[in-house]
Amino acid sequence: MHHIILDSETDFDGWRKSARALALNDVQPADVTWRVADDAPELFEPTYQPLEPPQATFNVPARFVELAEIAILHRNPERFALLYRLLWRLRQRHDLLEIATDPDVAEIVAMAKAVRRDEHKMHAFVRFREVGREQTSHFVAWFEPEHHIVELAAPFFARRFADMPWSILTPDICAHWDGHAVSFTPGVVRSEAPTADRLEETWRSYYASIFNPARLKVQAMQKEMPRKYWRNLPEASLIKPLIKSAERTANAMIAKAASEPHKPQKRLEPPEANDMPRKHADDLETLREEAADCRACHLYKNATQTVFGEGRQTARIMLVGEQPGDKEDLAGKPFVGPAGQMLDRALEEAGIDRRMVYVTNAVKHFKFVPRGKIRLHQKPNTPEIKACRQWYERELAAIKPDLVVAMGATAAQSVFGKITPINKNRGRAIDFDDGTRALVTVHPSYLLRLPDADAKAREYRRFVLDLKIAADVLRKSAHAA
Ligand code: URA
Repeated sequence: MHHIILDSETDFDGWRKSARALALNDVQPADVTWRVADDAPELFEPTYQPLEPPQATFNVPARFVELAEIAILHRNPERFALLYRLLWRLRQRHDLLEIATDPDVAEIVAMAKAVRRDEHKMHAFVRFREVGREQTSHFVAWFEPEHHIVELAAPFFARRFADMPWSILTPDICAHWDGHAVSFTPGVVRSEAPTADRLEETWRSYYASIFNPARLKVQAMQKEMPRKYWRNLPEASLIKPLIKSAERTANAMIAKAASEPHKPQKRLEPPEANDMPRKHADDLETLREEAADCRACHLYKNATQTVFGEGRQTARIMLVGEQPGDKEDLAGKPFVGPAGQMLDRALEEAGIDRRMVYVTNAVKHFKFVPRGKIRLHQKPNTPEIKACRQWYERELAAIKPDLVVAMGATAAQSVFGKITPINKNRGRAIDFDDGTRALVTVHPSYLLRLPDADAKAREYRRFVLDLKIAADVLRKSAHAA
């Protein structure tokens, strides 16, 4: 029997060295035990049987190494043995990882997915609290990851909060950034983390500002922001009161809209009866999960998370924007910031219920450059648009809308698959060979940026007129159904 002791829970190099030596000495997986050095030692510590240093090497698929590096961060204590079993079997069957139904393969893939999901949750739900003031201030957060992801996630926070010294405290390990390098110290207990400060109010007002009662879906919201994270979130104290008052607020919004001069056209109600997922369609939830791990271009490195599309799979209209902005990046939802508010208003005036449309972006990660405390939006370039197009195509295939509305040049480039001028093509639905119909219009942020009030009002009216073309398509498809 061989008893391998790794230096830490995340000691991938140690696992790799031992696994290689074991495999080259033909040690069967059943003849190996694995544990981490600081686990409680066995009462009678087994004697360690040294292995012959390996004389040879062997290759495994690169995908195995990628999966193993991530899956080893899972909290399941059996992971080291599972990885060795897979390595052992891969030497006999090089294409083993292609067999998705193999129990070992399925388990390792599920573990890697769970680790990535936990990493995304950490990116999204760490909230720093300021300790000290001005020159001596330091930002401290408390987080309880499900898996051993702190070292994996720390570089993201170093890039994102490069100009502030921070510490992320967790029960397993703590990460620290001093403006130059990330370092790690042993885990601590929760009572060592600060609980309140002046940043709390900022988080609360930000959350209240993006909370749209008309789009409240309690279950979906709780799925994305699971309860276990609530106690560390300053904005959590708002969730219950906001849900409670949502219905009241939504009714007030509708009443207010009705009394405003631009009376919206009659709203088309969502087709509830028709709201079952269509047969053979891709599942949007699966796509969303896959996209959460997208590494097709470099933009994932600095963004908080993938901002996937939002809406029903049965939506007849798909609205495509450019890329998430600052607020969308933090909230994980498209069009919740100022451009989203402009869009909501125009949709309302065009007589389109936002709940009936699917809203997405051509590029699903926020591209920005940091400028002090703010993040300046940067237009995505052609390689980034192309890298992300797979998601648009798969959303399109899943939804099969009657009309795609491309808002702005980036969206038009993605929807048409080539650079497509807006003014030359706007104002009419354009049919593609594959049966897709598309409409081109401006991006709502363009309206926000116009300095001249008259031009702004004129362009806004044109935007609403474009959306009315979409509303007509919607009405016609409702009649035809
Ligand atoms: N601009 C976009 O193009 N998309 C968003 O989601 C927000 C702003």
